[in-house]
Amino acid sequence: MVRDAPDPALYAAQHTLGERGVPAVVIGLAGGVEPELVWHNELGGLTFRIGERYVKWSPRAAGIDLDAERLRLEWISARHPAPRVLAAGADAEAQWLVTAALPGEQAIGQTWQARRPEALRAMATGLRALHALPVDDFPQEWTRQSWVGRTPSRLGPRPPLADPVIVHGDACAPNTLISPAGEWTGNVDFGDLAVGDRWADLAVASMSIDWNFGRGHADDEFFDAYGIAPDPERIRYYRALWDAES
Ligand SMILES: Nc1ncnc2c1ncn2[C@@H]1O[C@H](COP(=O)(O)OP(=O)(O)O)[C@@H](O)[C@H]1O
Ligand SMILES: [Mg+2]
Repeated sequence: MVRDAPDPALYAAQHTLGERGVPAVVIGLAGGVEPELVWHNELGGLTFRIGERYVKWSPRAAGIDLDAERLRLEWISARHPAPRVLAAGADAEAQWLVTAALPGEQAIGQTWQARRPEALRAMATGLRALHALPVDDFPQEWTRQSWVGRTPSRLGPRPPLADPVIVHGDACAPNTLISPAGEWTGNVDFGDLAVGDRWADLAVASMSIDWNFGRGHADDEFFDAYGIAPDPERIRYYRALWDAES
């Protein structure tokens, strides 16, 4: 699980790419075009845009398995607007994933703070679409490999699960893409895809809304747009599970 940095503009300003600069493999993939750094996660993973492609590069030391994410992207991108995998690779130092650019941009930053109701509606629309997918052909072992599928005894019993859905697993604002017109265009970052309780996503999404947009907006704007009343017990449980297991 990669925790997204709350503010990528700040990250871009504060973090350099280290002494080696852009990884050599990314330069090679760019074929003479200048790769644009668009994201830097807290584990040292980097995402570059190269024309109509994105390259997600993750150092081995991050402990993330981009090959697992590749399999999940291949599954979900056939069913939902998600990055289509074009290529993947690995060497001793890092793994990388090349995907086709989806339209839209991350639903964060100054623009979307100023247009917060549209951003929160886009998050809700994306999750509604994802949660409406059939769960029958989902590879069951992926749920066990995600924080979503774990039930540590110290958290007490998991709230009853009546209506399992496809769970994104990292349903934060930066993983939601939005068009200039304010429409949801897709989702990224599916390494923790699972089948489980929609509240696993709704709890994380509303937490991310508190971080990225300030507290107090999730209840009336996000949950309203999703069409559900806040469920304090499940919000508490899934935030605790996220903290404990992701
Ligand atoms: N195929 C793609 N199309 C559009 N944007 C993308 C694509 N892949 C990655 N991105 C952008 O790069 C950012 C980082 O990618 P992500 O998979 O979320 O990495 P991380 O696991 O480090 O959060 C995303 O939030 C999104 O803005
Ligand atoms: Mg992300």
